[in-house]
Amino acid sequence: MADPGNIHSVLVVDDEAAVRNGICRALSEKGIEAKAATGGQEALNRLETAPVDLLLLDIRMPDMNGIEVLKQVRARHPDTNVIMITGYPTIDSAVHCTKLGALDYLVKPFRLDDLEAALQKARVGRVSSRKHAIVNHGLKIDSEDHLIIGQSRPMKRIFDKILKVAPTDSTVLITGESGTGKELVAQAIHANSLRKDREFVAVDCSSLVETLLESELFGHVKGSFTGAHQTKHGFFELANHGTFFFDEIANLSLNIQAKLLRVIQEREFMKVGDQQKINLDIRIISASNSELTESIRKGIFREDLYYRLSVVPIHLPPLRERKQDIPILVRHFIDKLSRKMKKSSLDVSPEAMDILTEYAWPGNVRELEHTLERILILEDTDIIRAANLPAFITQRQGELQMFSEIPVSLEELEKKYIAFVLKRTRGKKTQAARILGINRKTLTAKVKKYGIS
Ligand SMILES: Nc1ncnc2c1ncn2[C@@H]1O[C@H](COP(=O)(O)OP(=O)(O)OP(=O)(O)O)[C@@H](O)[C@H]1O
Ligand SMILES: [Mg+2]
Repeated sequence: MADPGNIHSVLVVDDEAAVRNGICRALSEKGIEAKAATGGQEALNRLETAPVDLLLLDIRMPDMNGIEVLKQVRARHPDTNVIMITGYPTIDSAVHCTKLGALDYLVKPFRLDDLEAALQKARVGRVSSRKHAIVNHGLKIDSEDHLIIGQSRPMKRIFDKILKVAPTDSTVLITGESGTGKELVAQAIHANSLRKDREFVAVDCSSLVETLLESELFGHVKGSFTGAHQTKHGFFELANHGTFFFDEIANLSLNIQAKLLRVIQEREFMKVGDQQKINLDIRIISASNSELTESIRKGIFREDLYYRLSVVPIHLPPLRERKQDIPILVRHFIDKLSRKMKKSSLDVSPEAMDILTEYAWPGNVRELEHTLERILILEDTDIIRAANLPAFITQRQGELQMFSEIPVSLEELEKKYIAFVLKRTRGKKTQAARILGINRKTLTAKVKKYGIS
């Protein structure tokens, strides 16, 4: 892969030919591929087909203001760095551009040194924006120890997608089985977005009471219905200018779906019992653990709403499809839980780690976390071995191991299974016989017959 800190291609956007040509020449001499655009719209069109590492962007241009171009570039091409150039500097506009995500602000006419300094800043910016968020074993949400752990290929791809979509205002639909980390992903998108200092409001649609839902979402004014003793701010108002996380959207009634669609389309809403419209500026992220396409087919989820909500879909694969992440998740949770319980951190034997890795985890990461918590509380040991693992995990492991192999005769299966149970009971025949549902004598005979050691 190319060094992310290097700048290979630059697009210079300025309506003055002399400025364009001067900068392009200077960049070409440095071995950087420099192209030019004479206005904002042309620049945006070019970026669609030929992305660049850096945009040098004039602010005052006849066709389109540079600040407007900056906004669109940040939304559509978050990987492209932007440095503004202007002949009319004001502190206000400099601050404004930086807030919108411009890396630097150059005042015309500038010297080659200034350009070089800005390029250097862009190089550092490119490295650190990725380094910043992606750490050792995962993606940082908002602090050093609030992480989405993962280093498997599917998770790395998801981290990439999170960082790409975060600075935009696109709606995101996160799907995945229960416990796969959908809410964490929503938090990561918010925390890496331009709205990070505003509210992140999470609402679980399945916990909302249908009759109160409207007032919960939109708020109500005093006296608008019996029991409305006070004016209430709804979730939309609380989330305004921030991010709204709609969890379990499959549970929304058709009635509310229709209202929600209208709010999203019109970007304004009214409190219950009020005539005054409130402008809505929110980023909507939703999540579902069921296939919405199925609900659409059944007519219980609106297709038009689905398309509105799922501009960028993110699917979290179940844990059993990214086993590579299990050992680091185990380490992460043991360290985190030990810290919380003020215990010294436990080791995990290689055999126990194998079993944990092979288990299918129907409840995904949440089940893994809870299982480890139980072990840490209940087991008095300084190293977690196979014997410390709950029976449902070790038993399931046997099943999987046997059936994942080439089909064998019943006799062969019996032999393998007895060997497996004996291994789990560490050779204790009485215990093994009890698990197998045969008496000890029969077990001894079978062990002899099959030559199990
Ligand atoms: N990759 C991960 N790294 C660290 N912790 C994780 C990861 N994935 C999930 N978790 C943890 O597992 C638990 C469940 O995650 P979360 O609530 O995000 O799942 P969910 O997909 O929203 O589940 P549900 O569908 O049941 O609401 C949380 O405690 C979360 O912190
Ligand atoms: Mg959830």
